[in-house]
Amino acid sequence: MSSKELSSEHKLVRVCLDNPFTDQKPGTSGLRKSTKHFQQSNYLESFVEAILQTLPGIEGGVLVLGGDGRFGNKHGIDVIIRMAAAHRVKKIITTVDGILSTPAASHLIRTEKAVGGIILSASHNSGGPDGDFGVKINGPNGGPAAESLTDAIYAKTTKLDQYLILNNESIPLDNPGTYSISTTNIEVINGIDAYVELMQKIFDLDQIRDFLSNDFLMAFDALNAVTGPYAIRLFEGLLGTPSGTVRNGVPLEDFGGCHPDPNLTYAKDIASLLLEGQDYAFGAACDGDGDRNMILGRKCFVNPSDSLALLTANATCAPAYSNGLVGVARSMPTSSAVDVVAKALGIDCFETPTGWKFFGNLLDSGQITLCGEESFGTGSNHVREKDGIWAVLFWLQILARKKCSVQTLMNQHWSRFGRHYYSRHDYESIASEKAQDLYTRVESLLPSIIGSSFASNKVAAADNFTYNDPVDGSITNRQGLRILLDDGSRVVLRLSGTGTQGATLRVYLERYISSNGNLTQDPQKALAELIQAIDSFAEITKRTGMKRPTVIT
Ligand code: G1P
Ligand code: ZN
Repeated sequence: MSSKELSSEHKLVRVCLDNPFTDQKPGTSGLRKSTKHFQQSNYLESFVEAILQTLPGIEGGVLVLGGDGRFGNKHGIDVIIRMAAAHRVKKIITTVDGILSTPAASHLIRTEKAVGGIILSASHNSGGPDGDFGVKINGPNGGPAAESLTDAIYAKTTKLDQYLILNNESIPLDNPGTYSISTTNIEVINGIDAYVELMQKIFDLDQIRDFLSNDFLMAFDALNAVTGPYAIRLFEGLLGTPSGTVRNGVPLEDFGGCHPDPNLTYAKDIASLLLEGQDYAFGAACDGDGDRNMILGRKCFVNPSDSLALLTANATCAPAYSNGLVGVARSMPTSSAVDVVAKALGIDCFETPTGWKFFGNLLDSGQITLCGEESFGTGSNHVREKDGIWAVLFWLQILARKKCSVQTLMNQHWSRFGRHYYSRHDYESIASEKAQDLYTRVESLLPSIIGSSFASNKVAAADNFTYNDPVDGSITNRQGLRILLDDGSRVVLRLSGTGTQGATLRVYLERYISSNGNLTQDPQKALAELIQAIDSFAEITKRTGMKRPTVIT
Protein backbone atom coordinates (compact mmCIF):
# COMPACT_ATOMS: atom_id res chain seq x y z
CA MET A 1 0.00 0.00 0.00
CA SER A 2 1.63 3.29 -1.06
CA SER A 3 1.10 6.47 0.88
CA LYS A 4 2.43 9.72 -0.39
CA GLU A 5 2.09 13.44 0.20
CA LEU A 6 2.13 15.17 -3.18
CA SER A 7 1.62 18.69 -1.93
CA SER A 8 5.03 20.10 -2.77
CA GLU A 9 4.48 19.33 -6.46
CA HIS A 10 1.17 20.94 -7.14
CA LYS A 11 0.22 24.33 -8.45
CA LEU A 12 -3.31 25.66 -8.92
CA VAL A 13 -3.94 26.60 -12.53
CA ARG A 14 -6.87 28.67 -13.78
CA VAL A 15 -7.57 27.80 -17.38
CA CYS A 16 -9.49 30.50 -19.23
CA LEU A 17 -11.92 29.14 -21.78
CA ASP A 18 -12.07 30.80 -25.16
CA ASN A 19 -14.13 27.87 -26.39
CA PRO A 20 -16.69 27.32 -23.64
CA PHE A 21 -18.64 24.08 -23.62
CA THR A 22 -21.55 24.48 -26.01
CA ASP A 23 -23.14 21.10 -26.25
CA GLN A 24 -26.62 19.84 -25.81
CA LYS A 25 -28.04 18.84 -22.42
CA PRO A 26 -26.68 15.67 -20.86
CA GLY A 27 -29.24 12.83 -21.06
CA THR A 28 -30.49 10.47 -18.38
CA SER A 29 -27.13 8.71 -18.32
CA GLY A 30 -25.01 11.85 -18.11
CA LEU A 31 -22.97 13.11 -21.02
CA ARG A 32 -22.34 10.46 -23.68
CA LYS A 33 -20.47 11.31 -26.89
CA SER A 34 -17.91 9.88 -29.26
CA THR A 35 -14.41 9.61 -27.81
CA LYS A 36 -13.26 12.08 -30.47
CA HIS A 37 -15.85 14.60 -29.30
CA PHE A 38 -14.48 14.28 -25.76
CA GLN A 39 -10.94 14.81 -27.03
CA GLN A 40 -11.65 18.42 -28.04
CA SER A 41 -9.47 20.66 -25.94
CA ASN A 42 -10.97 21.60 -22.57
CA TYR A 43 -14.20 19.69 -23.33
CA LEU A 44 -14.01 17.08 -20.55
CA GLU A 45 -12.59 19.69 -18.17
CA SER A 46 -15.43 22.15 -18.84
CA PHE A 47 -18.06 19.55 -18.10
CA VAL A 48 -16.25 18.42 -14.95
CA GLU A 49 -15.92 22.02 -13.78
CA ALA A 50 -19.67 22.44 -14.17
CA ILE A 51 -20.25 19.26 -12.13
CA LEU A 52 -17.87 20.37 -9.38
CA GLN A 53 -19.46 23.81 -9.19
CA THR A 54 -22.97 22.34 -9.04
CA LEU A 55 -22.95 19.08 -7.03
CA PRO A 56 -23.97 20.08 -3.48
CA GLY A 57 -21.34 19.49 -0.77
CA ILE A 58 -18.31 19.10 -3.05
CA GLU A 59 -16.02 21.29 -0.90
CA GLY A 60 -15.19 19.13 2.14
CA GLY A 61 -17.20 16.17 0.77
CA VAL A 62 -16.38 12.64 -0.36
CA LEU A 63 -16.43 11.81 -4.09
CA VAL A 64 -16.45 8.30 -5.62
CA LEU A 65 -14.68 8.04 -8.97
CA GLY A 66 -14.17 5.15 -11.38
CA GLY A 67 -15.16 3.75 -14.72
CA ASP A 68 -15.62 0.76 -16.97
CA GLY A 69 -12.02 0.64 -18.21
CA ARG A 70 -12.67 1.98 -21.68
CA PHE A 71 -10.23 4.21 -23.61
CA GLY A 72 -10.02 7.53 -21.78
CA ASN A 73 -10.89 6.07 -18.35
CA LYS A 74 -7.50 6.57 -16.71
CA HIS A 75 -6.96 9.97 -18.30
CA GLY A 76 -10.43 11.04 -17.12
CA ILE A 77 -9.70 9.88 -13.58
CA ASP A 78 -6.42 11.80 -13.58
CA VAL A 79 -8.10 15.01 -14.75
CA ILE A 80 -10.99 14.67 -12.31
CA ILE A 81 -8.70 13.99 -9.34
CA ARG A 82 -6.71 17.15 -10.09
CA MET A 83 -9.84 19.23 -10.61
CA ALA A 84 -11.66 17.84 -7.56
CA ALA A 85 -8.58 18.58 -5.44
CA ALA A 86 -8.57 22.14 -6.83
CA HIS A 87 -12.18 22.36 -5.62
CA ARG A 88 -11.13 21.17 -2.15
CA VAL A 89 -12.96 17.88 -2.06
CA LYS A 90 -12.08 16.22 1.27
CA LYS A 91 -11.68 12.68 -0.03
CA ILE A 92 -11.70 11.02 -3.43
CA ILE A 93 -12.23 7.28 -3.49
CA THR A 94 -11.03 5.75 -6.72
CA THR A 95 -10.03 2.26 -7.75
CA VAL A 96 -7.12 0.17 -8.97
CA ASP A 97 -6.84 0.61 -12.76
CA GLY A 98 -9.91 2.85 -12.48
CA ILE A 99 -12.12 -0.28 -12.64
CA LEU A 100 -15.47 0.25 -10.95
CA SER A 101 -18.77 -1.07 -12.25
CA THR A 102 -21.80 1.18 -12.07
CA PRO A 103 -23.56 -0.91 -9.37
CA ALA A 104 -20.31 -1.17 -7.37
CA ALA A 105 -19.98 2.64 -7.59
CA SER A 106 -23.54 3.03 -6.37
CA HIS A 107 -22.77 0.80 -3.38
CA LEU A 108 -19.59 2.75 -2.52
CA ILE A 109 -21.37 6.12 -2.74
CA ARG A 110 -23.93 4.83 -0.23
CA THR A 111 -21.55 3.18 2.22
CA GLU A 112 -18.97 5.99 2.10
CA LYS A 113 -21.65 8.68 2.53
CA ALA A 114 -20.30 10.42 -0.54
CA VAL A 115 -21.84 13.59 -1.95
CA GLY A 116 -21.97 11.71 -5.24
CA GLY A 117 -19.96 9.85 -7.80
CA ILE A 118 -18.56 10.28 -11.28
CA ILE A 119 -18.58 7.12 -13.41
CA LEU A 120 -16.64 7.24 -16.67
CA SER A 121 -18.61 5.06 -19.03
CA ALA A 122 -20.78 5.10 -22.12
CA SER A 123 -22.46 1.95 -20.77
CA HIS A 124 -23.17 -0.54 -23.56
CA ASN A 125 -21.83 1.69 -26.37
CA SER A 126 -18.60 0.60 -28.04
CA GLY A 127 -15.31 2.00 -26.70
CA GLY A 128 -11.86 2.94 -27.98
CA PRO A 129 -10.57 5.91 -29.99
CA ASP A 130 -13.35 5.33 -32.55
CA GLY A 131 -16.02 4.45 -29.98
CA ASP A 132 -17.84 6.39 -27.31
CA PHE A 133 -16.99 7.87 -23.93
CA GLY A 134 -19.21 9.18 -21.20
CA VAL A 135 -19.36 10.96 -17.85
CA LYS A 136 -22.17 9.81 -15.61
CA ILE A 137 -23.07 11.67 -12.45
CA ASN A 138 -24.64 9.95 -9.46
CA GLY A 139 -26.19 11.65 -6.47
CA PRO A 140 -25.73 10.93 -2.75
CA ASN A 141 -28.33 8.13 -2.78
CA GLY A 142 -26.07 6.26 -5.23
CA GLY A 143 -28.49 6.63 -8.15
CA PRO A 144 -28.31 8.52 -11.44
CA ALA A 145 -28.46 12.28 -10.89
CA ALA A 146 -31.93 13.78 -10.80
CA GLU A 147 -32.90 15.83 -13.84
CA SER A 148 -32.86 19.00 -11.74
CA LEU A 149 -29.15 18.37 -11.08
CA THR A 150 -28.20 17.55 -14.70
CA ASP A 151 -30.19 20.62 -15.81
CA ALA A 152 -28.29 22.80 -13.34
CA ILE A 153 -24.96 21.33 -14.52
CA TYR A 154 -25.91 22.05 -18.10
CA ALA A 155 -26.94 25.61 -17.27
CA LYS A 156 -23.54 26.06 -15.63
CA THR A 157 -21.68 24.80 -18.73
CA THR A 158 -23.21 27.58 -20.80
CA LYS A 159 -21.74 30.24 -18.50
CA LEU A 160 -18.27 28.91 -17.76
CA ASP A 161 -15.29 31.06 -18.55
CA GLN A 162 -12.59 29.15 -16.68
CA TYR A 163 -11.82 25.97 -14.79
CA LEU A 164 -9.54 25.13 -11.90
CA ILE A 165 -7.01 22.31 -11.96
CA LEU A 166 -3.87 21.35 -10.05
CA ASN A 167 -0.81 20.46 -12.07
CA ASN A 168 0.42 17.73 -9.73
CA GLU A 169 1.89 14.47 -10.98
CA SER A 170 -0.60 11.69 -11.72
CA ILE A 171 -1.73 9.42 -8.91
CA PRO A 172 -0.67 5.86 -9.72
CA LEU A 173 -3.66 3.56 -10.12
CA ASP A 174 -1.85 0.25 -10.45
CA ASN A 175 -2.03 -0.64 -6.75
CA PRO A 176 -4.09 0.32 -3.71
CA GLY A 177 -2.66 3.35 -1.92
CA THR A 178 -3.43 6.61 -0.16
CA TYR A 179 -2.23 9.99 -1.29
CA SER A 180 -2.83 13.59 -0.44
CA ILE A 181 -2.77 16.66 -2.61
CA SER A 182 -3.38 20.02 -1.00
CA THR A 183 -6.42 19.50 1.30
CA THR A 184 -7.62 16.38 -0.53
CA ASN A 185 -7.00 12.76 0.40
CA ILE A 186 -7.09 10.22 -2.37
CA GLU A 187 -7.74 6.56 -1.65
CA VAL A 188 -7.06 4.07 -4.39
CA ILE A 189 -8.93 0.93 -3.36
CA ASN A 190 -9.70 -2.38 -4.99
CA GLY A 191 -13.04 -1.75 -6.70
CA ILE A 192 -14.16 -5.38 -6.43
CA ASP A 193 -14.00 -6.16 -2.68
CA ALA A 194 -16.93 -4.21 -1.23
CA TYR A 195 -19.25 -5.33 -4.01
CA VAL A 196 -18.37 -8.99 -3.54
CA GLU A 197 -19.02 -8.64 0.21
CA LEU A 198 -22.43 -7.16 -0.57
CA MET A 199 -23.29 -10.12 -2.82
CA GLN A 200 -22.23 -12.50 -0.02
CA LYS A 201 -24.77 -10.81 2.26
CA ILE A 202 -27.63 -10.97 -0.25
CA PHE A 203 -27.23 -14.54 -1.51
CA ASP A 204 -26.52 -17.97 -0.11
CA LEU A 205 -23.43 -18.61 -2.21
CA ASP A 206 -22.83 -22.03 -0.62
CA GLN A 207 -26.16 -23.25 -1.89
CA ILE A 208 -25.34 -22.01 -5.40
CA ARG A 209 -21.89 -23.56 -5.21
CA ASP A 210 -23.34 -26.98 -4.32
CA PHE A 211 -25.84 -26.76 -7.14
CA LEU A 212 -23.23 -25.78 -9.73
CA SER A 213 -20.89 -28.55 -8.65
CA ASN A 214 -23.57 -31.03 -9.67
CA ASP A 215 -22.91 -30.92 -13.39
CA PHE A 216 -24.80 -27.69 -13.95
CA LEU A 217 -22.40 -26.04 -16.35
CA MET A 218 -22.51 -22.27 -16.70
CA ALA A 219 -20.78 -19.71 -18.94
CA PHE A 220 -20.51 -15.97 -18.42
CA ASP A 221 -19.43 -13.41 -21.02
CA ALA A 222 -17.99 -10.15 -19.69
CA LEU A 223 -17.58 -8.89 -23.28
CA ASN A 224 -14.07 -7.57 -22.41
CA ALA A 225 -15.66 -4.96 -20.18
CA VAL A 226 -15.89 -4.09 -16.50
CA THR A 227 -17.61 -7.18 -15.04
CA GLY A 228 -14.71 -9.57 -15.81
CA PRO A 229 -12.85 -9.13 -12.50
CA TYR A 230 -16.09 -9.24 -10.48
CA ALA A 231 -17.27 -12.38 -12.29
CA ILE A 232 -13.93 -14.17 -11.97
CA ARG A 233 -13.85 -13.49 -8.22
CA LEU A 234 -17.46 -14.55 -7.70
CA PHE A 235 -18.00 -17.39 -10.16
CA GLU A 236 -14.56 -18.95 -10.54
CA GLY A 237 -13.54 -18.03 -7.00
CA LEU A 238 -16.37 -18.19 -4.47
CA LEU A 239 -18.70 -20.42 -6.50
CA GLY A 240 -15.91 -22.74 -7.63
CA THR A 241 -16.80 -22.94 -11.32
CA PRO A 242 -14.00 -24.12 -13.65
CA SER A 243 -11.49 -21.57 -14.86
CA GLY A 244 -12.66 -20.27 -18.23
CA THR A 245 -16.28 -20.03 -17.04
CA VAL A 246 -15.83 -16.29 -17.41
CA ARG A 247 -15.18 -15.48 -21.04
CA ASN A 248 -13.59 -12.22 -22.19
CA GLY A 249 -12.90 -11.47 -18.54
CA VAL A 250 -10.13 -8.88 -18.88
CA PRO A 251 -11.41 -5.31 -19.34
CA LEU A 252 -9.91 -3.92 -22.57
CA GLU A 253 -9.87 -0.27 -23.61
CA ASP A 254 -11.76 -1.00 -26.83
CA PHE A 255 -13.67 -4.00 -25.43
CA GLY A 256 -11.76 -6.11 -27.98
CA GLY A 257 -13.71 -4.38 -30.74
CA CYS A 258 -17.01 -5.76 -29.50
CA HIS A 259 -20.12 -3.80 -28.66
CA PRO A 260 -20.59 -4.59 -24.96
CA ASP A 261 -24.37 -4.87 -24.99
CA PRO A 262 -25.81 -8.14 -23.67
CA ASN A 263 -28.50 -8.92 -26.21
CA LEU A 264 -28.99 -11.50 -28.95
CA THR A 265 -27.34 -9.31 -31.57
CA TYR A 266 -24.28 -7.97 -29.79
CA ALA A 267 -23.60 -10.91 -27.48
CA LYS A 268 -24.06 -13.56 -30.16
CA ASP A 269 -21.24 -15.84 -29.03
CA ILE A 270 -22.71 -16.62 -25.64
CA ALA A 271 -26.21 -16.66 -27.13
CA SER A 272 -25.21 -19.29 -29.74
CA LEU A 273 -23.39 -21.30 -27.10
CA LEU A 274 -26.63 -21.66 -25.16
CA LEU A 275 -29.25 -21.56 -27.90
CA GLU A 276 -27.50 -23.81 -30.42
CA GLY A 277 -25.18 -25.93 -28.28
CA GLN A 278 -25.90 -28.64 -25.70
CA ASP A 279 -23.02 -28.25 -23.26
CA TYR A 280 -24.18 -25.42 -21.04
CA ALA A 281 -27.24 -25.23 -18.79
CA PHE A 282 -26.92 -21.54 -17.95
CA GLY A 283 -25.40 -18.53 -19.65
CA ALA A 284 -25.25 -14.84 -18.90
CA ALA A 285 -23.60 -11.63 -20.06
CA CYS A 286 -23.32 -8.08 -18.76
CA ASP A 287 -22.72 -4.75 -20.50
CA GLY A 288 -19.78 -2.31 -20.55
CA ASP A 289 -20.32 -0.84 -17.08
CA GLY A 290 -21.96 -3.90 -15.50
CA ASP A 291 -25.50 -2.73 -14.94
CA ARG A 292 -27.26 -4.77 -17.66
CA ASN A 293 -27.73 -8.53 -17.79
CA MET A 294 -28.86 -11.17 -20.26
CA ILE A 295 -29.98 -14.56 -18.96
CA LEU A 296 -29.96 -17.72 -21.07
CA GLY A 297 -30.77 -21.37 -20.46
CA ARG A 298 -30.15 -24.34 -22.70
CA LYS A 299 -32.16 -23.51 -25.85
CA CYS A 300 -33.87 -20.76 -23.90
CA PHE A 301 -33.56 -16.97 -24.01
CA VAL A 302 -35.15 -15.22 -21.03
CA ASN A 303 -36.84 -12.02 -22.04
CA PRO A 304 -35.86 -9.31 -19.50
CA SER A 305 -39.52 -8.50 -18.79
CA ASP A 306 -40.09 -12.18 -17.94
CA SER A 307 -36.91 -12.17 -15.88
CA LEU A 308 -38.28 -9.40 -13.64
CA ALA A 309 -41.56 -11.30 -13.24
CA LEU A 310 -39.78 -14.55 -12.41
CA LEU A 311 -37.44 -12.93 -9.87
CA THR A 312 -40.47 -11.30 -8.23
CA ALA A 313 -42.39 -14.59 -8.05
CA ASN A 314 -39.39 -16.42 -6.55
CA ALA A 315 -37.70 -13.64 -4.58
CA THR A 316 -37.95 -15.42 -1.24
CA CYS A 317 -35.38 -17.98 -2.47
CA ALA A 318 -32.65 -15.40 -1.75
CA PRO A 319 -31.85 -14.72 1.93
CA ALA A 320 -32.04 -10.93 1.50
CA TYR A 321 -35.63 -11.15 0.28
CA SER A 322 -36.80 -14.09 2.38
CA ASN A 323 -39.40 -11.93 4.14
CA GLY A 324 -41.03 -11.02 0.83
CA LEU A 325 -41.13 -7.83 -1.21
CA VAL A 326 -42.79 -4.54 -0.29
CA GLY A 327 -43.55 -3.67 -3.91
CA VAL A 328 -42.12 -3.74 -7.40
CA ALA A 329 -41.78 -1.33 -10.32
CA ARG A 330 -41.19 -1.57 -14.04
CA SER A 331 -40.59 0.98 -16.75
CA MET A 332 -43.61 1.71 -18.94
CA PRO A 333 -42.36 -0.16 -22.05
CA THR A 334 -41.54 -3.27 -19.94
CA SER A 335 -44.21 -5.96 -20.28
CA SER A 336 -46.92 -6.38 -17.67
CA ALA A 337 -45.67 -9.88 -16.75
CA VAL A 338 -44.54 -8.53 -13.39
CA ASP A 339 -47.90 -6.80 -12.78
CA VAL A 340 -49.65 -10.18 -12.83
CA VAL A 341 -47.20 -11.61 -10.29
CA ALA A 342 -47.48 -8.53 -8.05
CA LYS A 343 -51.25 -8.88 -8.07
CA ALA A 344 -51.00 -12.53 -7.04
CA LEU A 345 -48.58 -11.57 -4.24
CA GLY A 346 -50.82 -8.69 -3.14
CA ILE A 347 -48.07 -6.06 -3.49
CA ASP A 348 -47.96 -2.74 -5.34
CA CYS A 349 -46.60 -2.53 -8.87
CA PHE A 350 -45.55 0.92 -10.17
CA GLU A 351 -45.16 1.92 -13.82
CA THR A 352 -42.43 4.54 -14.36
CA PRO A 353 -40.91 6.22 -17.41
CA THR A 354 -37.83 4.68 -19.05
CA GLY A 355 -34.60 5.28 -17.11
CA TRP A 356 -33.37 4.05 -13.75
CA LYS A 357 -33.59 7.42 -11.99
CA PHE A 358 -37.37 7.10 -11.74
CA PHE A 359 -37.00 4.06 -9.49
CA GLY A 360 -34.87 6.08 -7.05
CA ASN A 361 -37.71 7.80 -5.20
CA LEU A 362 -39.66 4.55 -4.86
CA LEU A 363 -36.59 2.71 -3.54
CA ASP A 364 -35.57 5.55 -1.21
CA SER A 365 -39.07 5.81 0.25
CA GLY A 366 -39.21 2.06 0.84
CA GLN A 367 -42.16 1.45 -1.49
CA ILE A 368 -40.45 -1.13 -3.69
CA THR A 369 -37.84 -3.85 -3.29
CA LEU A 370 -37.31 -4.95 -6.90
CA CYS A 371 -37.50 -3.07 -10.19
CA GLY A 372 -36.59 -3.57 -13.81
CA GLU A 373 -36.66 -2.52 -17.42
CA GLU A 374 -37.14 -4.45 -20.63
CA SER A 375 -33.70 -3.20 -21.72
CA PHE A 376 -31.86 -5.90 -19.74
CA GLY A 377 -31.87 -3.93 -16.48
CA THR A 378 -32.89 -5.49 -13.18
CA GLY A 379 -32.17 -4.32 -9.67
CA SER A 380 -33.24 -4.03 -6.06
CA ASN A 381 -32.96 -1.82 -3.02
CA HIS A 382 -29.36 -3.06 -2.39
CA VAL A 383 -28.05 -0.21 -4.61
CA ARG A 384 -29.63 2.57 -6.67
CA GLU A 385 -28.59 1.31 -10.09
CA LYS A 386 -29.51 -1.75 -12.09
CA ASP A 387 -27.09 -4.55 -11.37
CA GLY A 388 -25.99 -7.18 -13.88
CA ILE A 389 -23.96 -9.57 -11.71
CA TRP A 390 -26.59 -9.39 -8.94
CA ALA A 391 -29.26 -10.51 -11.45
CA VAL A 392 -27.12 -13.45 -12.56
CA LEU A 393 -26.59 -14.54 -8.94
CA PHE A 394 -30.30 -14.13 -8.23
CA TRP A 395 -31.15 -16.46 -11.12
CA LEU A 396 -28.57 -18.98 -9.94
CA GLN A 397 -30.01 -18.81 -6.42
CA ILE A 398 -33.51 -19.61 -7.67
CA LEU A 399 -32.23 -22.43 -9.88
CA ALA A 400 -30.22 -23.80 -6.95
CA ARG A 401 -33.30 -23.74 -4.74
CA LYS A 402 -35.71 -25.17 -7.34
CA LYS A 403 -33.12 -27.57 -8.77
CA CYS A 404 -34.41 -27.36 -12.30
CA SER A 405 -33.50 -25.95 -15.72
CA VAL A 406 -34.11 -22.39 -16.90
CA GLN A 407 -36.67 -23.61 -19.46
CA THR A 408 -38.59 -25.64 -16.85
CA LEU A 409 -38.68 -22.64 -14.55
CA MET A 410 -40.04 -20.42 -17.33
CA ASN A 411 -42.62 -23.02 -18.39
CA GLN A 412 -43.83 -23.40 -14.83
CA HIS A 413 -44.04 -19.62 -14.49
CA TRP A 414 -46.13 -19.22 -17.66
CA SER A 415 -48.44 -22.07 -16.81
CA ARG A 416 -49.19 -20.34 -13.53
CA PHE A 417 -49.39 -16.69 -14.65
CA GLY A 418 -49.92 -16.83 -18.43
CA ARG A 419 -47.36 -15.51 -20.91
CA HIS A 420 -46.73 -11.96 -22.08
CA TYR A 421 -45.26 -12.44 -25.54
CA TYR A 422 -42.92 -9.54 -25.92
CA SER A 423 -40.38 -8.09 -28.31
CA ARG A 424 -38.52 -4.86 -28.88
CA HIS A 425 -37.57 -3.78 -32.39
CA ASP A 426 -34.87 -1.12 -32.66
CA TYR A 427 -34.29 0.90 -35.82
CA GLU A 428 -30.88 2.46 -35.32
CA SER A 429 -29.11 5.41 -36.98
CA ILE A 430 -32.16 6.90 -38.68
CA ALA A 431 -31.61 10.50 -39.83
CA SER A 432 -32.81 12.53 -36.83
CA GLU A 433 -35.29 14.61 -38.78
CA LYS A 434 -36.92 11.58 -40.41
CA ALA A 435 -37.32 9.88 -37.05
CA GLN A 436 -38.74 13.01 -35.47
CA ASP A 437 -41.25 13.45 -38.32
CA LEU A 438 -42.38 9.83 -38.03
CA TYR A 439 -42.82 10.18 -34.28
CA THR A 440 -44.66 13.50 -34.42
CA ARG A 441 -47.00 12.18 -37.08
CA VAL A 442 -47.92 9.11 -35.00
CA GLU A 443 -48.37 11.28 -31.92
CA SER A 444 -50.77 13.58 -33.76
CA LEU A 445 -52.80 10.60 -35.05
CA LEU A 446 -53.26 8.90 -31.67
CA PRO A 447 -56.52 10.60 -30.57
CA SER A 448 -58.16 9.69 -33.89
CA ILE A 449 -57.48 5.92 -33.67
CA ILE A 450 -59.18 5.32 -30.33
CA GLY A 451 -62.06 2.88 -30.98
CA SER A 452 -60.83 1.89 -34.44
CA SER A 453 -59.35 -1.48 -35.49
CA PHE A 454 -55.68 -2.31 -35.02
CA ALA A 455 -54.45 -5.82 -35.91
CA SER A 456 -57.44 -8.02 -34.94
CA ASN A 457 -58.49 -5.78 -32.08
CA LYS A 458 -59.81 -2.36 -31.22
CA VAL A 459 -57.76 0.50 -29.80
CA ALA A 460 -58.93 0.98 -26.21
CA ALA A 461 -56.64 3.94 -25.48
CA ALA A 462 -53.78 5.78 -27.16
CA ASP A 463 -51.64 8.49 -25.57
CA ASN A 464 -48.23 9.87 -24.79
CA PHE A 465 -47.34 8.46 -21.35
CA THR A 466 -47.31 10.84 -18.36
CA TYR A 467 -45.85 9.83 -14.99
CA ASN A 468 -47.06 11.26 -11.71
CA ASP A 469 -44.36 10.49 -9.17
CA PRO A 470 -46.20 9.15 -6.11
CA VAL A 471 -43.35 10.21 -3.80
CA ASP A 472 -42.64 13.84 -4.69
CA GLY A 473 -45.70 14.64 -6.80
CA SER A 474 -43.60 15.66 -9.81
CA ILE A 475 -45.06 15.14 -13.26
CA THR A 476 -43.01 13.85 -16.20
CA ASN A 477 -44.81 13.88 -19.51
CA ARG A 478 -44.24 12.77 -23.11
CA GLN A 479 -42.51 9.53 -22.16
CA GLY A 480 -43.59 7.38 -25.10
CA LEU A 481 -46.50 6.75 -27.44
CA ARG A 482 -48.81 3.96 -26.30
CA ILE A 483 -51.43 2.13 -28.33
CA LEU A 484 -53.40 -0.05 -25.92
CA LEU A 485 -55.73 -2.67 -27.42
CA ASP A 486 -58.91 -4.09 -25.93
CA ASP A 487 -57.36 -7.58 -25.40
CA GLY A 488 -54.54 -6.13 -23.28
CA SER A 489 -52.01 -6.12 -26.15
CA ARG A 490 -49.89 -3.02 -26.62
CA VAL A 491 -47.52 -1.27 -28.97
CA VAL A 492 -45.26 1.47 -27.63
CA LEU A 493 -43.03 3.81 -29.64
CA ARG A 494 -40.11 5.80 -28.23
CA LEU A 495 -37.10 7.63 -29.54
CA SER A 496 -33.93 6.62 -27.70
CA GLY A 497 -32.28 9.12 -25.40
CA THR A 498 -28.92 7.34 -25.27
CA GLY A 499 -27.83 6.83 -28.89
CA THR A 500 -24.95 8.89 -30.29
CA GLN A 501 -25.56 8.50 -34.04
CA GLY A 502 -28.73 9.88 -35.59
CA ALA A 503 -31.91 8.66 -33.94
CA THR A 504 -33.02 5.23 -32.76
CA LEU A 505 -36.68 4.34 -32.92
CA ARG A 506 -37.77 1.69 -30.44
CA VAL A 507 -40.96 -0.27 -31.04
CA TYR A 508 -42.16 -2.36 -28.10
CA LEU A 509 -44.70 -5.11 -28.77
CA GLU A 510 -46.67 -7.10 -26.21
CA ARG A 511 -49.48 -9.65 -26.30
CA TYR A 512 -50.88 -11.62 -23.37
CA ILE A 513 -51.91 -15.28 -23.66
CA SER A 514 -53.54 -16.76 -20.56
CA SER A 515 -52.24 -19.92 -18.92
CA ASN A 516 -54.55 -22.19 -20.92
CA GLY A 517 -53.51 -20.73 -24.31
CA ASN A 518 -50.52 -21.56 -26.52
CA LEU A 519 -47.50 -20.77 -24.35
CA THR A 520 -44.71 -22.08 -26.56
CA GLN A 521 -44.87 -20.03 -29.76
CA ASP A 522 -41.98 -18.10 -31.21
CA PRO A 523 -42.55 -14.51 -29.93
CA GLN A 524 -42.05 -13.00 -33.42
CA LYS A 525 -44.85 -15.26 -34.69
CA ALA A 526 -47.11 -14.56 -31.74
CA LEU A 527 -46.60 -10.84 -32.37
CA ALA A 528 -46.69 -10.95 -36.20
CA GLU A 529 -50.03 -9.19 -36.57
CA LEU A 530 -49.01 -6.37 -34.23
CA ILE A 531 -45.67 -5.99 -36.03
CA GLN A 532 -47.43 -5.60 -39.35
CA ALA A 533 -50.07 -3.26 -37.98
CA ILE A 534 -47.59 -0.84 -36.42
CA ASP A 535 -45.42 -0.82 -39.54
CA SER A 536 -48.32 0.18 -41.70
CA PHE A 537 -49.74 2.69 -39.19
CA ALA A 538 -46.42 4.38 -38.33
CA GLU A 539 -45.03 3.98 -41.89
CA ILE A 540 -41.73 2.74 -40.49
CA THR A 541 -40.44 0.91 -43.57
CA LYS A 542 -41.79 3.56 -45.91
CA ARG A 543 -40.23 6.48 -44.06
CA THR A 544 -36.92 4.96 -42.96
CA GLY A 545 -36.28 2.71 -45.94
CA MET A 546 -35.39 -0.03 -43.43
CA LYS A 547 -37.05 -3.34 -44.23
CA ARG A 548 -36.26 -4.80 -40.86
CA PRO A 549 -35.09 -3.57 -37.45
CA THR A 550 -31.38 -3.36 -36.63
CA VAL A 551 -31.84 -5.22 -33.36
CA ILE A 552 -34.67 -7.55 -32.38
CA THR A 553 -34.96 -8.61 -28.78
C1 G1P B 1 -31.89 2.84 -22.92
C2 G1P B 1 -32.93 1.88 -22.41
C3 G1P B 1 -33.41 2.32 -21.04
C4 G1P B 1 -32.22 2.43 -20.10
C5 G1P B 1 -31.16 3.35 -20.71
C6 G1P B 1 -29.88 3.36 -19.87
O1 G1P B 1 -32.43 4.14 -23.05
O2 G1P B 1 -34.02 1.77 -23.30
O3 G1P B 1 -34.35 1.40 -20.56
O4 G1P B 1 -32.61 2.95 -18.86
O5 G1P B 1 -30.82 2.88 -22.02
O6 G1P B 1 -29.31 2.09 -19.78
P1 G1P B 1 -32.98 4.71 -24.43
O7 G1P B 1 -31.85 4.62 -25.42
O8 G1P B 1 -34.12 3.82 -24.84
O9 G1P B 1 -33.42 6.12 -24.12
ZN1 ZN C 1 -24.82 0.03 -18.67
